[in-house]
Amino acid sequence: MRTKIVAGNWKMNKDREETEALLAELSAKLPDTKAEVIVAPTFVNLETAQRSLESSTIKVAAQNMHFAENGAYTGEISADMLLNLDVDTVILGHSERRSYFGETDELLAKKMDTAVAKGLKAIFCFGEELEDRKSDNHFSVVESQLKNGLFHLEASAWKNIVLAYEPVWAIGTGETASPEQAQEMHAFIRKTIAEAYNASIADEVSILYGGSVKPGNAEEIFSKPDVDGGLIGGASLVASDFVAIINAI
Ligand code: G3P
Repeated sequence: MRTKIVAGNWKMNKDREETEALLAELSAKLPDTKAEVIVAPTFVNLETAQRSLESSTIKVAAQNMHFAENGAYTGEISADMLLNLDVDTVILGHSERRSYFGETDELLAKKMDTAVAKGLKAIFCFGEELEDRKSDNHFSVVESQLKNGLFHLEASAWKNIVLAYEPVWAIGTGETASPEQAQEMHAFIRKTIAEAYNASIADEVSILYGGSVKPGNAEEIFSKPDVDGGLIGGASLVASDFVAIINAI
């Protein structure tokens, strides 16, 4: 049975006090849910989040990490530094890191190698640009991102991998993919993994949808058979909205 997950990617938002306040409200309002609930604050608030959630089932994730153990990588954070904070989940390959910071499939493959080696759970993000979809290249773009970023990994690595399909044209735009579009791509992703590995891995991997998920559209998107939850941006910054999305799964 696949794990249902609702993860909040806070991006570059919330200072320490705002982090404490949001997590206190979220903890108080958190419903009973079968889903795994994750929040990903900024690096500087990971420790605050861990402290705020020490008696909560909500897990904390980082929004990125470097592939190296340590060294001359100004401004970067290593896997061991995350583990030192008891953070064992990390978002990798978000489209904002691919487009604003030039993260390539090759770099992400190295980050995935480190995540696997360190036993971290990786939420691997990918998705097509609007022009890819308009030119009907969205399936080949997604297949290429999966192959170049993940398909070098051993089958055993997949127990700690969560996928997040985030069509770039839906991120932060209010232009959510339709439930049918999400299901079509998620089914394609699962088929692609089955062909590269086997049916068991494909069936077991959780595939999240991300891109303008809101309380008003979450239930229909999450109802699709190959959608196992969501990676939520803006709506995760408001406790009542995030709780409404958790209730939708
Ligand atoms: O990683 C999740 C994020 O990219 C989606 O953002 O604001 O469209 O929910 P948003």
